[in-house]
Amino acid sequence: MAARLHGRRILVTGAASGMGRAIAEMFGAEGAALALLDLNDDGVQAVASELGAVGYACDVSDRLAVNAVVAKSGAALGGIDGVVNAAGILNIKPFGELEPENWDRMLAINLTGPFNIVYAALPMLRAAEKATIVNIASTSALMPMAGTTGYSASKAGLAMFTKCLGFDLGPNIRANSICPGVIKTEMTRYLWENTEHTERAVDRVALKRLGLPQDVAKAALFFSTEDSGFTTGTELPVDGGFSWA
Ligand SMILES: NC(=O)c1ccc[n+]([C@@H]2O[C@H](COP(=O)([O-])OP(=O)(O)OC[C@H]3O[C@@H](n4cnc5c(N)ncnc54)[C@H](O)[C@@H]3O)[C@@H](O)[C@H]2O)c1
Repeated sequence: MAARLHGRRILVTGAASGMGRAIAEMFGAEGAALALLDLNDDGVQAVASELGAVGYACDVSDRLAVNAVVAKSGAALGGIDGVVNAAGILNIKPFGELEPENWDRMLAINLTGPFNIVYAALPMLRAAEKATIVNIASTSALMPMAGTTGYSASKAGLAMFTKCLGFDLGPNIRANSICPGVIKTEMTRYLWENTEHTERAVDRVALKRLGLPQDVAKAALFFSTEDSGFTTGTELPVDGGFSWA
């Protein structure tokens, strides 16, 4: 079977770890030319050299840095047909203990970060014949959970940002978000390293396991190909049934 992303030039944020890394690996195997961004310089360079991609250290909340790095990515790849925004942070604290700086940082990275990336890449996405935007939101965008006021607000904002992009940027640019449940990455190490926490989390999931970064990468691949050619402005839970169970 032909590589499903042959000829596509895709920028992935958060590519040094977890889902962003799994997405970069799967997209590379499917023939995409890749530009990888992450705050973690060593990490992103290691993944980039493994995949024959270009890699840049960049804080997605820093608009000027994003503008420069997206321009460099476009120059290196000869354009950009797709972006995947996977960079994100999680800070769980009951409201009242969450500091204003925690709120600001989550909103700046999880919500304004994708805005910065899409805004900077827009001329290139518009120049592409067909372009795709995939934003990694969360089941926290769909349902309230204790201790997640800031995180959930950032992810719900991201999901609605994505829906509105679908309207504003169609018909040539499609935008969709993915809402992962608990996925085994560095972000959730505190949970899956604790047997009791893991059992409780798995018990709430219809499919009785935690998700893997590759589960999310498959959904990102779907949204980045014509397999999802009549789908835009939607959010897909990849959560084993967590958000409705
Ligand atoms: N792991 C989960 O259970 C889960 C569930 C739902 C949603 N998510 C979301 O999925 C996405 C990927 O998370 P993950 O689980 O792979 O986590 P991870 O911690 O393994 O990876 C996140 C990556 O983002 C990078 N990053 C953080 N801040 C950044 C910044 N300011 N600029 C650029 N890069 C930055 C980190 O360096 C890291 O490489 C995040 O947006 C997260 O909120 C995770």
